[in-house]
Amino acid sequence: MAMANNTLFLFVFSLSLYNSLSQQPLPNASCNGVVVTYTYDGGYIIPPTETDPTNQAYRFESTLAVRNNGRETLKSWKSFVRFQYNELLVSITGGVLAVATVMPAPVGNGTELVGSPVTDLKSAIETAGDVTQMEAYIKLVGTQFGNGNLSSVLPANLSLSNEGYSCPVPSIQGNVMQVCCIVSELTDGGAYRLEQNFEPLQNGDLTIMYDVLSSYDTNYWAQVTISNHNPVGRLENWKLSWDWTREEFIYTMKGAYPHVLDTNDCIFGQQGQHYKELDFSQVLSCERRPTITDLPPTRANDSNLGRIPFCCRNGTILPPGMDPSKAMSIFQMQVYKMPPDLNRTALFPPQNWKINGTWSSDFECGVPVAVTPTQFPDPNGLPSEKSAVASWQVVCNVTHFKEQKPKCCVSFSAFYNDSVVPCRTCACGCNDNPSQTCNSNEPALLLPSRALLVPFENRTSDALDWASTKRFTVPNPPPCGDNCGVSINWHVLSDYRNGWTARITIFNWGENEFVDWFATVQLDKAMPGFEKVYSLNGSAITDPNNTIFMQGFKDLNYLLAETDRANPRKDPRIPGTQQSVISFTKKTTPLIKVAAGDGFPTKVLFNGEECALPSIIPSRTSRKTITANVIFGLLPVLLLL
Ligand SMILES: *[C@@H]1O[C@H](CO)[C@@H](O)[C@H](O)[C@H]1NC(C)=O
Ligand SMILES: *[C@@H]1O[C@H](CO)[C@@H](O)[C@H](O)[C@H]1NC(C)=O
Ligand SMILES: *[C@@H]1O[C@H](CO)[C@@H](O)[C@H](O)[C@H]1NC(C)=O
Ligand SMILES: *[C@@H]1O[C@H](CO)[C@@H](O)[C@H](O)[C@H]1NC(C)=O
Ligand SMILES: *[C@@H]1O[C@H](CO)[C@@H](O)[C@H](O)[C@H]1NC(C)=O
Ligand SMILES: *[C@@H]1O[C@H](CO)[C@@H](O)[C@H](O)[C@H]1NC(C)=O
Ligand SMILES: *[C@@H]1O[C@H](CO)[C@@H](O)[C@H](O)[C@H]1NC(C)=O
Ligand SMILES: *[C@@H]1O[C@H](CO)[C@@H](O)[C@H](O)[C@H]1NC(C)=O
Ligand SMILES: *[C@@H]1O[C@H](CO)[C@@H](O)[C@H](O)[C@H]1NC(C)=O
Ligand SMILES: *[C@@H]1O[C@H](CO)[C@@H](O)[C@H](O)[C@H]1NC(C)=O
Ligand SMILES: *[C@@H]1O[C@H](CO)[C@@H](O)[C@H](O)[C@H]1NC(C)=O
Ligand SMILES: *[C@@H]1O[C@H](CO)[C@@H](O)[C@H](O)[C@H]1NC(C)=O
Repeated sequence: MAMANNTLFLFVFSLSLYNSLSQQPLPNASCNGVVVTYTYDGGYIIPPTETDPTNQAYRFESTLAVRNNGRETLKSWKSFVRFQYNELLVSITGGVLAVATVMPAPVGNGTELVGSPVTDLKSAIETAGDVTQMEAYIKLVGTQFGNGNLSSVLPANLSLSNEGYSCPVPSIQGNVMQVCCIVSELTDGGAYRLEQNFEPLQNGDLTIMYDVLSSYDTNYWAQVTISNHNPVGRLENWKLSWDWTREEFIYTMKGAYPHVLDTNDCIFGQQGQHYKELDFSQVLSCERRPTITDLPPTRANDSNLGRIPFCCRNGTILPPGMDPSKAMSIFQMQVYKMPPDLNRTALFPPQNWKINGTWSSDFECGVPVAVTPTQFPDPNGLPSEKSAVASWQVVCNVTHFKEQKPKCCVSFSAFYNDSVVPCRTCACGCNDNPSQTCNSNEPALLLPSRALLVPFENRTSDALDWASTKRFTVPNPPPCGDNCGVSINWHVLSDYRNGWTARITIFNWGENEFVDWFATVQLDKAMPGFEKVYSLNGSAITDPNNTIFMQGFKDLNYLLAETDRANPRKDPRIPGTQQSVISFTKKTTPLIKVAAGDGFPTKVLFNGEECALPSIIPSRTSRKTITANVIFGLLPVLLLL
C-alpha cells in the first residue's frame, strides 16, 4: 500500500515538473550560446509485455542536436543527457559515448555524448552562417522502460559539459527538450579562455597521443605514442587501426608499418587526381581504415624504417612497473591531406581508434580529444623544450566481453591431499560440436600429481588408473580437457605454527615461448603475511590489492614452449615450466586457515589475462594423515628443469 502511494506521488510529481517545464518557450532563436536540443522522434512498445505498466520496455528513437550560435568555435563538444528511464543505448550515429562502452550501453543514470567524426562546431561568424558547419546531430536508438507516455520519454536534464559553459534548466515543448548554454563569465580575460580550449589529459589503461610534429600545407608529420598505464596490463603484437575521415593517406612511416600496402584506392581515386605529380608507388597506404603493426626488433636501426626511440619490439608493451622503457611504443608517419584542408592549420586527427593484440585484453577507445600541445625535449640537446604543433589524446580502457574465454587455467594441490584438483573442464573452451569422445559438462577427474607434467591427451591412462585406485566414478565418455595454452599449479607445500609455504608452477603447453612473461596471484586473507618468492622475481603490489607480481629474473625471463623428449615415441611431450616456492609468515595473520581456503588464490593472471580457477580446493580428510612422500610429489618438475 505504501509502495502504491509512493508511486502515485512520484507520478504526480513528475507530471507537475513536466508541466512547469513545458510552459517555458524554447530558447532556440534567441540563444547566443550553444543550443542543445533533444528531440524524441518516436518509439513503440516491444516484447515482453509486462503486467506492470511502469516496467514496460519501449523502443525509442531520438536526435540530439548541438548548434553553436556563439562567437567562437566550440572545440570537442560534449553534451550530458541525464536519462531517467533505465535507458539502454543500442545504436549511436554521428557521435559516440565519451566513456567508451560496449553496446548495448546502460545509460539510465545519464551519459556524456561527444561528436564523431565532427568534433568541433564553427561559429556563424566564421562560416557566414553555414548551419552545416555550426551544427552536429547524433541519432540515438535504444530501449527505455515506463508507460510510453510522452511525459515519460524525455531525459531529466540536458546540458553542454564543456568547461567554461553554463546551462540553465532546460525547456520542454511536446517531444522536444532544449537548453541554451552560454560562455560563463571569465575572471581573467582572454588568456584564460585560450587555455580553456584544451581538455586536460585523462587517465586510462592505455593512452594514445597523436602529436603533430611539423605541418605543411599539403602534409604533416605525426607521432603516435601508445603508453600502457595498467599495472597488470600487457599487449603482444599490437594492432592499431583508425578511420581517415578526410581522404588522407599515409606517405611514409617510421617505427611501425601498415598491415596492408595498397595504393590502388589513391591512384584511381580523388587523391590520384589531385596529386598528379606524386609517385604513388612510394606511398605506403591509402586504406580508409589502415591497420598498423609494430616492426620486429631487427628493424630498430634501419635508417628508412626504424631509428625511432621505443619502436620495433614486435608489438610488445609491458606493464609500467615491469620495465618503464618497454611500457610504450612510438611511431611516426607523414600524412598527405586533401582539399579543402590544404592549409597548415587545417589538422584533423583520425577517428574510431581501436587497438588489440594476441594474448591480451580487448580495449575500447574514446574519441581523440584536443589537449595542450605536448612538450618534447629539444632534439639538439639544448635545455629547452619543443612543442608539438597540435596534440590529441585517445584514452582506451580494458573491456571484458562476456563471451571472452580465458587463455589460461589454474590447478590446486596441497601436501595434505594426494589428489590434484585439475583445471576445469573446457576452461579455455571446447569444440562447439558435441564430441563423442569427451564430455564437456562433467567436472575434471582428480589426478595424481605426476600427471600434471603430461599433456592432457596423454594423461588419460594415468587419470583412469588413479580413479580406479581411489574408487572415483568415471563418467562415460570422460570429461574433456581444459584446452588452455598455459596452466598454473598452486600447491600448498607446508602449513606450520608460524607460517606456511606454497609452490607455484607455470606450464606452457603452446608452441611459442613467452618472453618477458609475468604472473599475478591475488590472495585475500594471506597477503599481509607475504614474505618472499624464491626462484622468481616477486613482489607485493597494491593495485590490484593483495597481489603478488612475479616475473623471471633479469635475462632469464623466458617461459619455453612445449618440446619433444629424447624418445618421442615412448615419452609424451614436455611443457615449458617456471617454478618457485613462496613463503608466508603467520605473525600478522594468526587466524589464517590455510587448508580451509585462505591459502588458495582468489584471482590469478598470466600476462595480464585472467586464468580460470577450479571451483573446489583439495580437502583435508578428517583423519590426520600427513604423508611425507606427498610433500615431494612435484619434485620431478624441479629435477627436469
Ligand atoms: C530550433 O532548433 C532546431 C534544432 O536545432 C532547428 O531545426 C530549428 O530550425 C530552430 N528554430 C529556430 C526558430 O531557430
Ligand atoms: C577509462 O578509465 C578511467 C578510470 O580508470 C576513466 O577515468 C576514463 O574516463 C575511462 N575512459 C574511457 C574512454 O572509457
Ligand atoms: C545508477 O546509480 C545507482 C546509484 O548510484 C546505481 O545503483 C545504479 O546501478 C546506476 N545505474 C546505472 C545503469 O548505471
Ligand atoms: C498516459 O498518461 C495519462 C495520464 O496523464 C493516462 O491517463 C494514460 O493512461 C497514460 N497512457 C499510458 C499508455 O499509460
Ligand atoms: C541540469 O544540468 C545543469 C548543468 O549541469 C545544472 O546546473 C542543473 O542544476 C541541472 N538541473 C537539474 C534539475 O538537475
Ligand atoms: C641498434 O643500435 C644500437 C646502438 O648502436 C645497438 O645497441 C643495438 O644493438 C642495435 N640493434 C640492432 C637490432 O642492430
Ligand atoms: C614477432 O611476432 C611474430 C608473430 O606476429 C612472430 O612470428 C615472430 O617470431 C616474432 N619475432 C620476434 C623477434 O619475436
Ligand atoms: C589557412 O587557414 C587560416 C585560418 O583558418 C587562414 O587565416 C589562412 O588564410 C588560410 N590560408 C590559406 C592559404 O588558405
Ligand atoms: C585485431 O584487430 C584487427 C583489425 O582491427 C583484426 O583484423 C584482428 O582480427 C584483431 N585481432 C584480435 C586478436 O582480436
Ligand atoms: C586493499 O586492502 C586493504 C586491506 O584488505 C584495504 O584496507 C584497502 O581498502 C584495499 N584497497 C582497495 C583499493 O581495495
Ligand atoms: C600423446 O598423445 C598424442 C595425441 O593423442 C599422440 O599423438 C602421442 O603419440 C602420445 N604420446 C605418447 C608418448 O603416448
Ligand atoms: C582431496 O580433495 C578432493 C577435492 O576436495 C576430495 O574430493 C578428496 O576426497 C580429497 N582426498 C583426500 C584423501 O582427502
